[in-house]
Amino acid sequence: MGKVIGALDLGTTSNRFMLFDHQGKIVGVDQREHEQIFPRPGWVEHDPLEIWENSCRVIKGALGKTGIGGRDIAAIGITNQRETAVVWDKTTGRPLYNAIVWQCTRTDGICNTLAQEGGQDRFREKTGLPIATYFAGPKIKWILDNVPEAKAAVKKGQALFGTIESWIIWQLTGGVAGGAHVTDVTNASRTLLMDLKTLAWDDEILGILGIPREMLPRIVPSIDKGTWGHTLKDGPLGADVPVCGALGDQQAALVGQTCFAVGEAKNTYGTGCFMLLNTGTQPVPSAHGLLTTVGYQISGEKPVYCLEGSVAIAGALVQWLRDNLGLISSAPEVEALARTVDDNGGAYIVPAFSGLFAPYWRSDARGVIAGLTRYVNKGHIARAVLEANAYQTLDIMEAMKKDSGVDLNSLKVDGGMVANELLMQFQADLLDVPVIRPSITETTALGAAYAAGLAVGFWTSMEELKQYWSVDKTWQPRMDDDARRKGIRGWQKAVQRTLDWVE
Ligand code: G3P
Repeated sequence: MGKVIGALDLGTTSNRFMLFDHQGKIVGVDQREHEQIFPRPGWVEHDPLEIWENSCRVIKGALGKTGIGGRDIAAIGITNQRETAVVWDKTTGRPLYNAIVWQCTRTDGICNTLAQEGGQDRFREKTGLPIATYFAGPKIKWILDNVPEAKAAVKKGQALFGTIESWIIWQLTGGVAGGAHVTDVTNASRTLLMDLKTLAWDDEILGILGIPREMLPRIVPSIDKGTWGHTLKDGPLGADVPVCGALGDQQAALVGQTCFAVGEAKNTYGTGCFMLLNTGTQPVPSAHGLLTTVGYQISGEKPVYCLEGSVAIAGALVQWLRDNLGLISSAPEVEALARTVDDNGGAYIVPAFSGLFAPYWRSDARGVIAGLTRYVNKGHIARAVLEANAYQTLDIMEAMKKDSGVDLNSLKVDGGMVANELLMQFQADLLDVPVIRPSITETTALGAAYAAGLAVGFWTSMEELKQYWSVDKTWQPRMDDDARRKGIRGWQKAVQRTLDWVE
């Protein structure tokens, strides 16, 4: 067996390939950003071919930098931005439209009609999800309704749909020459088309949305001892490597943080921010605006479910500060700018750029900066940007406590923004519980590696993986109750403005 595991991490803004050794340590990495396409306000697209080409480049890049060869890799796992929908032609291998990204709000009309006909929660019992622009199903319908080439390909039986992991697994395992058309169960649980209990596509919902079953991938376990296919000798790995692990990126972070026991939770600060709580082998319905979703499934075993609080904009707000306002020239600079002041100066930012996700699910909400006075300067704005992440997480945590009855007494965190010490302290202050950062914060890629490694026996059990998790730093809460209450009041008033904004 090879001596390392490869993980392809296909995120919203960049793609990375990472190599992990047996102790879960990173031994190689390469990364590339891809273009964010904004054709209209609220619309977000990616070029699927760019994502595939960049996947090949980062695989070759990581192998080239380390001298590790494809034959040294025991298996590869894939993790991905979830809900982003690709429709392609299986005979040409070409996308029939750009990928419609999870943040895109173009399906607002479709979602409103569906909700008017049967309520926003009409599919919740089966799928665990409210009707919202976030999910993949309405995006497929939009493509079939609006792209004549896609409609024609469906008629000829040539159109395939997949979320990003599905598209890339198909490419890696042969593409037009017979690539595996599969989706892992965690990604399938984000389409609004899968029944959470049977783990199968739901014919009634497919009928309502007008999506033909034939274009959908086969739903497979996230950790599959059966393997879906192998990479090609003339592909980017230059070797025949089993592809047998896949998880949506937030579920991958859950696995990377080894949250395998009921009641364990993690919060990932990436482009968005996503808190997942392991609720065990029974799906727990949400009455407070959270999602019920699949956490992971090992082949031959029952799936493990989660409650999830999804926040659309987290790190993306820092990028907006950099790219749209030009207040900083690189993302990490936000911390130094925020440290030039002691507090937010009364200013709050609610980044409802793609509407508001959990617990509100209002795709018509739009962002606001509230509480401005002449006193507020760019330091206060930077502080309000960081605080927005912490306040959004607080809203999720409150909903999670109500839905699960579990009183979370600490929070494991990961993702790019956990390097930001100011944010981590403020998060602990606001939640009033310790915030814990693990030694390996690349938990998303690690989780995908764990999935593939468990599938081929590189790692033997989840207990073994627990040994590789360790604490890097813990932030203890130190804010007094009055200050916390005052901050939360300000935040709630600002959130109300984003909901009132709608005409
Ligand atoms: O559901 C969207 C999520 O998967 C995106 O993750 O890491 O790009 O913020 P990320």
